[in-house]
Amino acid sequence: MGTAVPFPQMQPPGYEWLDDEPSFDPALHLHLEAPSEIIMLADLGYPDDEIATKATPVAASSPFRVLSDEGSRVLLDIARQLRRYVRPAGERIENMLRGGCYRSRWLRDLCTSEDVTAHLEAIYGIAIAPHAMPLHLGHMNFEPNSIDNAIDKWHHDTLPLDFVMMVTDPADVDGGRFEYFLGTKHEAAELSAAGQTPPAARTVAPDFPGPGYAIALHGDMVVHRAGPLLSLDERISMVNGYVALDTATDDQSRSSDLIVIDDHEALYTEWAKMAAWRSQGRLASLIEELPFTADKDAVIAELESAIADTQRAIEEMRAGKSNMDHYGG
Ligand SMILES: [Fe+2]
Repeated sequence: MGTAVPFPQMQPPGYEWLDDEPSFDPALHLHLEAPSEIIMLADLGYPDDEIATKATPVAASSPFRVLSDEGSRVLLDIARQLRRYVRPAGERIENMLRGGCYRSRWLRDLCTSEDVTAHLEAIYGIAIAPHAMPLHLGHMNFEPNSIDNAIDKWHHDTLPLDFVMMVTDPADVDGGRFEYFLGTKHEAAELSAAGQTPPAARTVAPDFPGPGYAIALHGDMVVHRAGPLLSLDERISMVNGYVALDTATDDQSRSSDLIVIDDHEALYTEWAKMAAWRSQGRLASLIEELPFTADKDAVIAELESAIADTQRAIEEMRAGKSNMDHYGG
């Protein structure tokens, strides 16, 4: 466990802290339990050579407890206070909250908690850190304005790893089940091209026993959604992002998708720091490990790979907005 990019001391312009919230207390607000089941990327049909470059071979876990009853109560209260900042995410999500960790200190401290990070680290089986971009911490989805719309359409995430936690009690919500596809994102893309979505026989809808329970997800690799509500109940979930500390693994991010959904005051600076952290790690490895060689092309390739994420960030920022990918309803 470690830190990728430290949480900023300053808020981006326009963000104010909530003034009515308790201090985050791990002893009072957490109740961490291990999941009983872990599903691997190989179980979804990914080949070994594709898995080898990713953060972890783990795909998803069964639901496990994160928050105590008191922690769940506080989170729901904070989510309700933050609801006034919801915005749509393109066509994919109707009501979504980003940047909540710049508004709630409790949420920030939960999402960057060392206890929670260590717990997730044991599940993923690799060294991780809270995501380098705070916009990916404490993301929340709220119920749509109409039950005809899925809360979030079939997609894979714009970041490598996350947990998805129920904020409202799933027992109080009719429909709106979190589901994931027992297949690869390549299969989901083929289905989408044929006008189809993942068939029910190949999806899993984990049973969340209550609020404050989560599943760990390899979000970039597991195609998932929050299904439609059957009645228009309050339904809130929270997604907290992580990165693998090993910068030799793939970046597994689609930050250009964020241009159309995130606040630019925060996004570009966070994105630059993420890219700089990735390149810093790879450049450090190059300094330590590059052997003497007359093979100029091999050396150039090593240098190019070391700065690839920074190069890509520059190109994507210059190119401007892209649409947010999804695989349909
Ligand atoms: Fe997602």
